[in-house]
Amino acid sequence: MTLPIDLHGRRVLITGVSSGIGLGIAGSMAQAGGTIAGCGLEAATAPGVQAFFAAVQQHGQAATYTALDVRDDAALAAWVDEAAAHMGGIDLVISNAGRSVFKGAAACTVDEWHDAISLNLAAHWKLCKAAYPYLQQAQEPVIIIIASNHAYNTIPGCFPYNTAKAALPGLVQSLAIEWGPQVRAVGIAPGFIDTPGGDAWFNSFPDPAAERARTEAMHPAGRIGTPAEIGALCAFLCSPYSRFITGSTVLVDGGRSALMQDG
Ligand SMILES: NC(=O)c1ccc[n+]([C@@H]2O[C@H](COP(=O)([O-])OP(=O)(O)OC[C@H]3O[C@@H](n4cnc5c(N)ncnc54)[C@H](O)[C@@H]3O)[C@@H](O)[C@H]2O)c1
Repeated sequence: MTLPIDLHGRRVLITGVSSGIGLGIAGSMAQAGGTIAGCGLEAATAPGVQAFFAAVQQHGQAATYTALDVRDDAALAAWVDEAAAHMGGIDLVISNAGRSVFKGAAACTVDEWHDAISLNLAAHWKLCKAAYPYLQQAQEPVIIIIASNHAYNTIPGCFPYNTAKAALPGLVQSLAIEWGPQVRAVGIAPGFIDTPGGDAWFNSFPDPAAERARTEAMHPAGRIGTPAEIGALCAFLCSPYSRFITGSTVLVDGGRSALMQDG
């Protein structure tokens, strides 16, 4: 007996689909049957955007893509309205777009602070707010917000990023209690996931391969995660099997946080 995740007929907004975790989520949501409206910073001709279309279309699903900066309030709201008009509504919102802004608390400038907060915190709320009128018209709508394991534990020099990410489980709680029971809101806090962003981190070390091996050894799972694993969790959280999951943020870190620092 199978336990299928069937999102056919579900109209899905996803931010940051042209790379990494967002690309993986788009593939999984399409595999489950969803129709996808994606956005990202890159132009429609960029290789990452072509990969997005390929990831969705290989499952026979329809996709649109819009190049925009989610920190641009007018562009973000216009995209939500256009996507809703094109798809005939919005059922599921996956707020994923984000970027590491790693600075120490003393070195961080006010501009860098605003950059981190506007992208990694405020844009998530603004997307949800713009989509809310459409979600109110939908059957069993769900919002997923991609936070980070930095919401719970961090390392020196990540101050504006981890501060913004730490606020996202709070945003998830507020949306769940204010917009429930109609709308469910769930957070996902990925640990180290194998993406171009992760590659940039490894490449910042003199020996990237050694740093990758050291990082993998920190994980009880013996490796870092994949975008497809975050995508599969998204599909599950958007499915009826997850009807009792709302207001919480799921940590997906390969067991890394279970290991004491001196372990
Ligand atoms: N990769 C990891 O290990 C990891 C771990 C925890 C959390 N995250 C979070 O997952 C999300 C995706 O990260 P990733 O590693 O896949 O990154 P990535 O750099 O591979 O991809 C980022 C995506 O977001 C889009 N984006 C970035 N800034 C944008 C903006 N201002 N407006 C519109 N789109 C924008 C990019 O176009 C791209 O599609 C982020 O929120 C990140 O903080 C990643």
